[in-house]
Amino acid sequence: MTIQRICCIGAGYVGGPTMAVIADRCPEIEVTVVDINQARIDAWNDADLSRLPVYEPGLDAVVGRARGRNLTFSTAVEATVASADMVFISVNTPTKTKGLGAGQASDLRWVEACARTVAKAATGHTIVVEKSTLPVRTAAAIKTILEAAQEDDQQRCFSVLSNPEFLAEGTAIRDLEAPDRVLIGGEDAASIEALAAVYSHWVDEAKILRTNLWSSELSKLTANAFLAQRISSINSVAALCEATGADVREVARAIGTDSRIGPKFLNAGPGFGGSCFQKDILNLVYLCRHFGLPEVADYWESVVALNTWQQHRIAQLVVQKLFGTVTGKRLAIFGFAFKADTNDTREAPAIRICGDLLEEGAQLAIHDPKVEPAQMARDLKQEAAAAADVLSGTGSWALAESVEEAVSGADAVLILTEWNVYRNLNWAELAGRMRKPAWLFDARAVADPAVVRAAGLTLWRVGDGED
Ligand code: NAD
Ligand code: UGA
Repeated sequence: MTIQRICCIGAGYVGGPTMAVIADRCPEIEVTVVDINQARIDAWNDADLSRLPVYEPGLDAVVGRARGRNLTFSTAVEATVASADMVFISVNTPTKTKGLGAGQASDLRWVEACARTVAKAATGHTIVVEKSTLPVRTAAAIKTILEAAQEDDQQRCFSVLSNPEFLAEGTAIRDLEAPDRVLIGGEDAASIEALAAVYSHWVDEAKILRTNLWSSELSKLTANAFLAQRISSINSVAALCEATGADVREVARAIGTDSRIGPKFLNAGPGFGGSCFQKDILNLVYLCRHFGLPEVADYWESVVALNTWQQHRIAQLVVQKLFGTVTGKRLAIFGFAFKADTNDTREAPAIRICGDLLEEGAQLAIHDPKVEPAQMARDLKQEAAAAADVLSGTGSWALAESVEEAVSGADAVLILTEWNVYRNLNWAELAGRMRKPAWLFDARAVADPAVVRAAGLTLWRVGDGED
């Protein structure tokens, strides 16, 4: 079975870049990415490649090569499904906000809608690939919907595969072009091999893992849980370092050189953000409780609890260090995205930390190289202020176009995202614009402590017991 036409439902952070790379590497396959969001599709079709809806280093070049050749972005969902022999489902699976499992379980309404669209529109043999991150056993629900459609029309048949995506934002193109592994779970060997053949255009055979459906679905949730657990572990150690005079970077190096532990994902910081870690762990917690494993649920839930605590802890210590009050004080926030090299702010640590500081009455001047002010307003649930309202003591925020503008008159700078531009700032010059005594709270440990101190700033660095 050779795949000639791929349809991907969902033109988001995963669907767009993943399909762009598949189209780039498989010029003989027609790849169409469809979405119900017209504005998003228009942005993917924008002639100006700097205006794609997702910012990822290298994405513009990949889209530039494939779009108009064998890569298309469209809102014609049903027509594209009808002509495809493989349909990826790459839609959002956020945490449910109400009803059964609210706050933990995944909201599968968009995935179910896709299954029903495929059931209605597909023709002939169609391989349906779960690309979204899903609770274990979701494939059973998708199969039930598709089998009902098959009974109505014997000309059609379906196979369901699980092919979770492991890309990280900011490095999506690199991760897609040189993945650690590609995971394909399924029951039908021919369908598994058809998808493996797509990836084998550029991925070594040894890196294409085949499993059963449930192992594949569960591996995605647990991979994210393990990664997030490392961050909560190192952040817990950071707090202990601050209390004892140790330095978390030295501890991370010491433990990370043990080859069984490894050096990656040991950067202490303001806690993990991003659309997936919290959502996927909470989903895992829900599944554990559902399957009668409350102790396992509690174990994973503590990873999220530690993360939330770390974010509140940082906001609280800023208040404490600034003489117990930030009411009416100007604070410069460097970085709003959940990590560097992305414009994504979903679950960004900055949201909770800025939220706490606004609650305390601070005036925030927020700088980020990629995040739009409209997004900040949505996240902070508050429009930008025309001017700082120092007298009323009500917390407010304003966009700063430059770091210089952000720090003018500020009592403190908080670095919340590790953008490269924050690594080698002229701290002497910036300090000169601030009100003394002035602080730098470096939650990402990107600034050079010696330079910061030489500039006359008082420094707090995450996990640094010397300050
Ligand atoms: P996203 O919100 O950026 O994109 C999802 C898109 O699906 C949206 O544009 C939405 O309009 C579209 N959509 C929803 N229902 C639709 C329907 N019925 N028909 C057509 N289009 C529809 O989401 P994302 O970040 O790309 O994540 C997608 C999935 O991939 C999630 O399950 C997520 O957990 C998983 N994932 C995300 C990442 C990441 O880095 N963002 C990494 C790995 C896995
Ligand atoms: C993460 C995983 O790394 C991907 O494999 C997975 O596909 C993806 O989730 C997903 O399922 O959505 P992503 O959230 O894009 O990718 O980014 P990460 O690099 O994992 O960073 C997540 C958060 O952890 C960021 O806020 C980052 O700043 C933080 N982090 C990461 C740390 O605080 N310390 C570290 O050492 C590493």
